[in-house]
Amino acid sequence: MKIGIDQISFYTSSYFLDMKVLARERQIDSKKYSVGIGQHQASVPAPGEDTVTLAANAAMPFVESDALANTDWLIFATETGIDQSKSAGVYVHDLLDLPPNYRIFECKQACYSSIAGLQIAMGLVERFPEKKVLLIASDIARYGIRTPGEVTQGCGAVALVISANPRMITMDKESGFFTQNTMDFWRPNYRREALVDGKASTRQYIHTLIESWKQYASISKNTFNDFSHYCYHLPFTKMAEKAHTHLTRFNGITPVPTGLVKIHIEDTLHYVRTVGNTYTAAIFIGLLSLLENSSKDLGNRKLGFFSYGSGCVGEFLSGTVEPGYEQMLTKQRHKAIIDNRSGLSYEDYEYFYHFAVPQDGGRHCFPKKYNTGKFRLAGIEKHKRIYEKV
Ligand code: HMG
Repeated sequence: MKIGIDQISFYTSSYFLDMKVLARERQIDSKKYSVGIGQHQASVPAPGEDTVTLAANAAMPFVESDALANTDWLIFATETGIDQSKSAGVYVHDLLDLPPNYRIFECKQACYSSIAGLQIAMGLVERFPEKKVLLIASDIARYGIRTPGEVTQGCGAVALVISANPRMITMDKESGFFTQNTMDFWRPNYRREALVDGKASTRQYIHTLIESWKQYASISKNTFNDFSHYCYHLPFTKMAEKAHTHLTRFNGITPVPTGLVKIHIEDTLHYVRTVGNTYTAAIFIGLLSLLENSSKDLGNRKLGFFSYGSGCVGEFLSGTVEPGYEQMLTKQRHKAIIDNRSGLSYEDYEYFYHFAVPQDGGRHCFPKKYNTGKFRLAGIEKHKRIYEKV
């Protein structure tokens, strides 16, 4: 039985920070950001916007069509949890008016948890082939102000329908994976910003890629040259280029032709350049970027996927694009979401950045004037988050 991705929908904040603005403020050559890191803009969440509202906005088009018929599982992947106990997915279920006979849970292992969610979802479809699973990955990448990670911030969510006989991507069963206890990136419960050993994290990403690939290559009939494109976890554009150069060299192609790296990954990078890191959502945003922007018909093409979650867990997977996948794309809607964002001044960026959810248990209402799509976090009272439809 074929199992995989039947539909994908993406959402990001209505605001962005231009990296030229950040570079000017930090007195850094803007080419470091645009060329050295490969980031041009970053989506910035507005007051009243969090992983719940981003997720609900991403999944809303599925509610407006019949895409969620036969779903009764919602798997929510995030590392920007809003509660230590309650899954953010339960709020999303409520905002989307999904039926009560649903099962919902949240998974966590840094950026990797969306691929863990995909694996679980595919296992559920194998057990209940007539059912579909709603998988949502939603995150806000947040580093300290004036830290090297700041340029790689971003936010966004993807919603996916996982089913039998999928109309977009059929995933292979074989995969290669690797775990190693590392402190390359982490966020203790008491912090809003991630801590990161930046350079070490990029080395660990590449080490994990090669180890995952070795296992994948030992059990799969696919070889490096069988893949037309590679979709990487995308913390920033340049990371995918570095990673793919290493994988190409590991497969005996030296010197590594830059043209080959470009062919394999360039079309996966259009959205991350302007949206920034979206942690769990990033690998699927790369896939969407490829499907929506490739000038080629990708039907029947083999794709490689590498997911990396700091800490760390990685997995190399593969899949095949279903012929006719174009019918399932909503490129104009996604393009409008990105193109219609408003640029922030540096002062507004700092205001958004420092806007916090009060922790005193009092009644607090959040400003209504910011665009948060069809849903907003209206306020907080007695430590309870209050969401509303806009
Ligand atoms: P940095 O200190 O800015 O690094 O940190 P740099 O000074 O070495 O500069 C970066 C590149 O810009 C270098 O190129 C420079 O040469 C170049 P490279 O040697 O890398 O090829 N450069 C210039 N290029 C053109 N014109 C110029 C110029 N100046 C310098 N004028 C770092 C960079 C990525 C480490 C930092 O941004 C960071 O800490 N980011 C956050 C961590 C991160 O994203 N790690 C990625 C791997 S871990 C991961 O993916 C997991 C994650 O998503 C979390 C999760 O799993 O949940 C993060």
